[in-house]
Order: sequence, then structure tokens, then C-alpha cells
Amino acid sequence: MNGLKHIAFIMDGNGRWAVSRGLKRSAGHREGVKALKRVLTACAAHNVPVVSVYAFSTENWKRPKEEIDAIFLLIKELNDDYLAKDDLNYAVNFFGDLAALPSFVRSSVDDVKKKTQNKRGMTVNVMLNYGGRAEIVNSVKKLVKDGKEITEESIAANLYTGYLPEPDIIVRTAGERRLSNFMIFQGAYSELLFVDTLWPDMDDADVRRILDEYGKRTRRFGGI
Ligand code: IPE
Ligand code: IPE
Ligand code: MG
Repeated sequence: MNGLKHIAFIMDGNGRWAVSRGLKRSAGHREGVKALKRVLTACAAHNVPVVSVYAFSTENWKRPKEEIDAIFLLIKELNDDYLAKDDLNYAVNFFGDLAALPSFVRSSVDDVKKKTQNKRGMTVNVMLNYGGRAEIVNSVKKLVKDGKEITEESIAANLYTGYLPEPDIIVRTAGERRLSNFMIFQGAYSELLFVDTLWPDMDDADVRRILDEYGKRTRRFGGI
């Protein structure tokens, strides 16, 4: 697949999907979980080695408590009823400030990590209470604490994703054209793709289109 190793998704548009149907925003998040399952299945079918998804940002705490609570409940459901199941072959990581999450979310996160760590089919990174700036700051703090040299390589190696390939392509749904603090260090040379489809409407055909589009891109990394 054109050397593609890592696709990252900024899953956006759940709220608009719901509001346009006269539903509560939480209904959009529920539909968004279904879309996530479809997209992961499609990525696995296309042999994508690593998929990262932005599920909750460090800035999303600004939302109403009712919506935040609904998102966390859905993440727990996703973990217990899907990601922790034996029949999936995904090694699942959760990256972000997990200590600040409610304990019922943290325990489901720990459970999924434990049950999936030896699976080899596809690596799935769920970015949860994640912020790219905080990730960089934490990496540098760790290097300083350990008395290590600060270099591009050492900062990269101490990011949450340090041992994984950088995202080849970052896809954002719902027409917004910004990164919103997502993978800003490791995304320095990622291809960017902005699609108008709202996240809850994403399916297998969209994944195929993303892979086709990636295949048309020429990556130069500053060369010719
Ligand atoms: C993305 O959908 C999901 C999260 C941020 C958790 P939004 O909830 O941001 O949807 P819009 O942007 O309001 O439509
Ligand atoms: C980014 O989406 C965060 C996630 C997808 C989890 P937002 O909807 O929060 O981003 P902004 O506020 O439009 O930049
Ligand atoms: Mg949004």
C-alpha cells in the first residue's frame, strides 16, 4: 500500500450530524462510535499497520458536562463491548493524560490494553485527553529529568507514539481545515486530507478513497 504505515483520523462532525437531525449531540457521538468500528474494520482489511484516532482533546473539557459524560460513557462501552473482545486482532493503545479521566474510563482502558497487548493484526491508538503541545512538553520534561540531550530524535522518541512510525496521512472529516492540537510534532511531514463527510457517515468506501488519494501524493520531505 505505497509504503503507507500509519493513518491518523481527526474524527469530527458528530455534533453537526446529530443537530442536523434534531437529535442531541450525544446521539452523534453514539453514531460516531459505529463509524469508528467501520473505519477500523476497513483499515484492517486494507492491511494498514497503524491507525490513530482523536477521540477527546485536552480542549474538549470546555464542552458541557452532559456531553463530556456521554462521550466517556461511550468510550467505556466501546472498550468493554468491542475493543476488549477476543475476536478482534487489534493491539490497542490509549495516549493522552489518562490520569485525569474518570476512574470507570481508566479501568476499561487498562482492561483493553492488557487484553490486546499481544495482538499483532493492527495497532490502534486512541488519543484520549490528548493534546499535541502537552505531549511535546511532557517529552522534553522527561528528557530533562533523565539528564538526556534535547534533540529532534530524543523528543520524538519520548512522545506517546515514540516507537511507532509517524502518521503518513492525517485525515480530518467534517470540512474543518485545522489540526486542533493533534500530532503536531509527529505530523510535521504528514500528508493532510480534509474531507467534507461528517464522521458518523464514514464507511469502507471512504477509507478506499483515502487510500487512493494517498497513493496519488508525492512526498518529498524537503528533497526533489
Ligand atoms: C468530534 O465531533 C468528536 C469529539 C470532539 C469528541 P464534534 O463533537 O466536534 O462534532 P462537531 O464539530 O460539533 O460537528
Ligand atoms: C478535535 O475536534 C478534537 C477531536 C476530534 C477529538 P474539535 O471539534 O474539538 O476541534 P475544533 O474545536 O473544531 O478545533
Ligand atoms: Mg468538532
